[in-house]
Parts: sequence; C-alpha cells; structure tokens
Amino acid sequence: MSPAAHADDAYLLDTIIAAAHASAAAIREHEPGIASLRWEEKSPTDFVSLVDRAAEERIAAVITARLPDARLLGEENSPDLGNLDEGLVFVADPLDGTTNFLHGYPAYAVSIAALVDGVLRAGAILDVPRNELFTATLGGGAKRDGQRIAVSAIAEPSRALLGTGFPFKHHDHITPYLGRLPEIMRATAGVRRPGAAALDLAAVACGRFDAFWEMMLAPWDIAAGILLVREAGGVVTDPSGFPARVAHTGIVCGNPAMHRWLLDQLTHPIAD
Ligand code: IPD
Ligand code: CA
Ligand code: CA
Repeated sequence: MSPAAHADDAYLLDTIIAAAHASAAAIREHEPGIASLRWEEKSPTDFVSLVDRAAEERIAAVITARLPDARLLGEENSPDLGNLDEGLVFVADPLDGTTNFLHGYPAYAVSIAALVDGVLRAGAILDVPRNELFTATLGGGAKRDGQRIAVSAIAEPSRALLGTGFPFKHHDHITPYLGRLPEIMRATAGVRRPGAAALDLAAVACGRFDAFWEMMLAPWDIAAGILLVREAGGVVTDPSGFPARVAHTGIVCGNPAMHRWLLDQLTHPIAD
C-alpha cells in the first residue's frame, strides 16, 4: 500500500470537497461566456470545452498538493483506467453534464471519488448551479449540505419517479434501449432524462428519484454516485444484478424495492 493509501476517510473527503469547489470555481468563471466557447467534438454527440480541461486541472492541483502519491483518473486529462484496485486513486468528472452546461441548461456537476485498493471510501457530487453538495464516506452515511439523506420509501411503481440516461453516443444502442421504455413509462409516475448522470445518482440518494438506469457510463460518471446511493440505503447493481463496480458501464439503482422492480423490467424478455 502506498503512503497515500493510509489517509483516513475524513481527510479523503476533505480533499475531494476542496477539489470539487476548485473545479466549480473554474466552471463558474466561464458561465457568463458560454455562448462564445468553442466546442470540441469527442464524437458527434459528445462535446468538450476548455472549461472541462481547466476544471480538471484545478482538481489535479488540489489533489497533488494534499496527497502527492495519489493517482488521478480524470475524464479529460488523464482518462487511462490503469489498475483501479491498487493504492489511492481519485476518480473525477470535472464537469458532468457538459452538453447542459454549453446550452446554459442548469443541470451540471463536479463528481469526485476516492478508491483505496479498489474500495470506494469517499465521494462528493457538487451541483454547480444549485450549489448543493452531496457527500458520503464508507460506513459514514450520505449527506446533502451536511444533513443526512436517505433513499425514498416508495415501493409502488405507479407512485415512482425514475431517472434515466439515453445511449446518445452509440446510435445502434438506441433501439434496444427504447424497447424497455414503454412498459416502464406506463407503469410509473414518470421518467426523466436530466443529462448529468452524477446528479441522477444524487437524486436517487436523496429520494428525488426512486430509481435510475443508464447503460453506457464511465467510471467518472458513477464512482461517487455509487457510494452515495449505497450509503443512503439504496442498491446499485449492473444490469445483471451484480453489485456495481466503478468500472461497470451499465447501472441500475434505486431504493431496494424500486431497484428490484426496475431490474426485473430491464431483464424481462420484451414481448412481441
Ligand atoms: C455525460 C452525462 C450524461 C450521460 C452520459 C455522460 P459528460 O457526462 O452524465 O447524463 O448520459 O453518458 O457521458 O460527458 O457530460 O461528462
Ligand atoms: Ca460525465
Ligand atoms: Ca464530463
């Protein structure tokens, strides 16, 4: 174990929060000028701007200053997964919801988690427009702005509000995704697609959503959210029902009852 891996969870969370605020500051500096920002295409529907990169640099600076031996897995500047099961690794999305940000649609966040020898130990999601901070440490519960939060108790699909994410990067995944949607829409109170996966997971953790699913996600989208939802009493699995790991791309989560229901819907063969 590297020396950095001995940092306690409170210090890890403190570092994450400092880094999240630094990233948010970079994002806010650019908010007034979004109309003139240059968008770069990572793929035809996946954009990045200098804001994403500048924000990640701020995260790296905070982490390096406080824990120089730690590794940073960041979406824009250091996306090499490497070995997530060894030592202290911070997994960061400096700006989750880039497309929302570029359009001035107020649903974007910073998401950062710390893994020690592959175990999620601390995480935070900072909703930038609302300045709402979600935090969790392993065994220490989940919080919103310092107050404990829990998943909802809604167990009836007809009362449930679900979140989802569309498979917008790979067009051949759209039709299989849509196959499941009508039944889920008919059975529930509503389905939303806000466009920032980290915030969707935070919404499950605090009971705004009763469940959420998305099939093509990256470690930086989900690392902090997995810990947050679990610490709030929720369940997070992959689409086969196995406990979700940071490297999984598909996520199904919710309060225990709605997670079970949603997983069943998603794994059910679609009737002709
Ligand atoms: C995206 C958002 C979106 C989700 C995508 C992610 P980005 O992250 O979380 O909601 O549907 O899969 O890639 O690119 O805005 O950081
Ligand atoms: Ca993201
Ligand atoms: Ca991002």
